[in-house]
Amino acid sequence: MLDCISAVFALVGAIVVLRILYRFLAFVYAYAIRPATNVWAKYGSAGSWAVVTGASDGIGYEYTRQLAEAGFNVVMVARNRGKLAERRDHILADLKRQPKPELRIAVVDYNQDYSVAQYKELDEETRGKEIAILVNNVGAGNARHYDVYPLDKLQEMVRVNSYSFAFTTRMILPQILHRAQALKRRSAVITVSSAIVLNYWAYAVIYGATKTFLLSEMNSLAMEYEGQGIDFMTCIPGEVLTNLNWDSGFGAITAEACTRGQLRFLGYDQVTCGALLHKILLSIPLPESYWALSGKRTSEMYEQKWGMATTGAAGKETKGVAEEAASDKTQ
Ligand SMILES: NC(=O)c1ccc[n+]([C@@H]2O[C@H](COP(=O)([O-])OP(=O)(O)OC[C@H]3O[C@@H](n4cnc5c(N)ncnc54)[C@H](OP(=O)(O)O)[C@@H]3O)[C@@H](O)[C@H]2O)c1
Repeated sequence: MLDCISAVFALVGAIVVLRILYRFLAFVYAYAIRPATNVWAKYGSAGSWAVVTGASDGIGYEYTRQLAEAGFNVVMVARNRGKLAERRDHILADLKRQPKPELRIAVVDYNQDYSVAQYKELDEETRGKEIAILVNNVGAGNARHYDVYPLDKLQEMVRVNSYSFAFTTRMILPQILHRAQALKRRSAVITVSSAIVLNYWAYAVIYGATKTFLLSEMNSLAMEYEGQGIDFMTCIPGEVLTNLNWDSGFGAITAEACTRGQLRFLGYDQVTCGALLHKILLSIPLPESYWALSGKRTSEMYEQKWGMATTGAAGKETKGVAEEAASDKTQ
C-alpha cells in the first residue's frame, strides 16, 4: 500500500518537474533561440497599411514609428488633430528609410457612443486601402477608490477601452479579411490589453475589467477566424513609462522597448507579455496583497497629479452624483 502511495507521489512529482522544465525550455526558446518576427517580411507588401489607435502618444506612437520604420504606411488615429500632426511630422523627420511611407491622420474621440459621424474620418481614411495590421492600442485609465470614482471617468474607461476595440475592429476586419483571403497575404490584429488580466487589481476595478474584456474578445476572434490568414495577438505588458503611467515602480520599461518586445512575437503567440523583463516579472507568483498595494500606489500617483481623493467616502456625508461631479477637480 505504502509503495503504491509513494509511486503516485513520485509520478505527480515527475509530471510537475517536467511541466516546469517544459515551460522553462519554451521560455528560453522563445526569447533566446527563435528569431524575432520580421514584421515586414511576414505581413508587408507594396502599398500595405497599418491602422494604429491612440497613435499620438506612448505605446501607440511607438507602434506607428516602428511599423513605419519597417515600411508600412500608417493611419494614425486619436482625438487631437494638432497633436497627431505634430507627432506624424516628428516621425517622418526622424525616419531613415527611403522612400518614406505615408502617414495619414484620422480623428476619432473614442469617449463617445458609436455614431456614423464619429467614425466618418476613420472610414474615409481606411476605405479602399490594403490593411495588413490593425493595432487596437488606445486606452484610458486611472485609479481610485470605487465609492468616490467619478461616473464620467468610469464611462470614459468603458467607452475608450472597450467600444474602441469593438467598433474599430468591426470596421477594419472586413478589409483585413479580404487581404488575407483574396490576396493571400498574411495579416494581423494586435490589441494592447494589460498584465492586469493576470490578476484582480484593487483601485482599478473597471480598468481591469475592460482589459479582460479585450483578452476574451481577441481569443474568441482568433477561434472564429482560425485558418483564414490572420494572426490575432493580445499584448499584456506590465508597467510602461507613458502619460498613463508616468511614475511607475520597479519593472517599468520604455514604450519603445514595450512595442519592440511585442512585435517580435507577432505570428508566434496569441497572448504575449512582450519584453523579457515583463515576462520574467509576470512569471513570479505574487500574493493578492501585492496587487492591492500596487493599485493603491497607482491611485496615489493619480492623486498627486490631479488631486484625486484616494480614500473611500466612508464616514463622509453622502453627496449626490451631480454635486460630486461639480466638485471634482479633474473635470
Ligand atoms: N502605460 C502602461 O503602464 C500600460 C501598461 C499596460 C497596458 N497599457 C495599455 O497600453 C495602451 C496605451 O497606453 P499608453 O500608456 O501608451 O497611454 P498614453 O501614453 O496615455 O497614450 C494614449 C493614446 O490614446 C489616445 N487617446 C486617449 N483617449 C482617447 C480618446 N478618447 N479618443 C481617441 N484617442 C484617445 C491619446 O491621445 P491624447 O494624447 O489626445 O490623449 C494617446 O495617443 C492602453 O490601452 C493602456 O491601457 C499601458
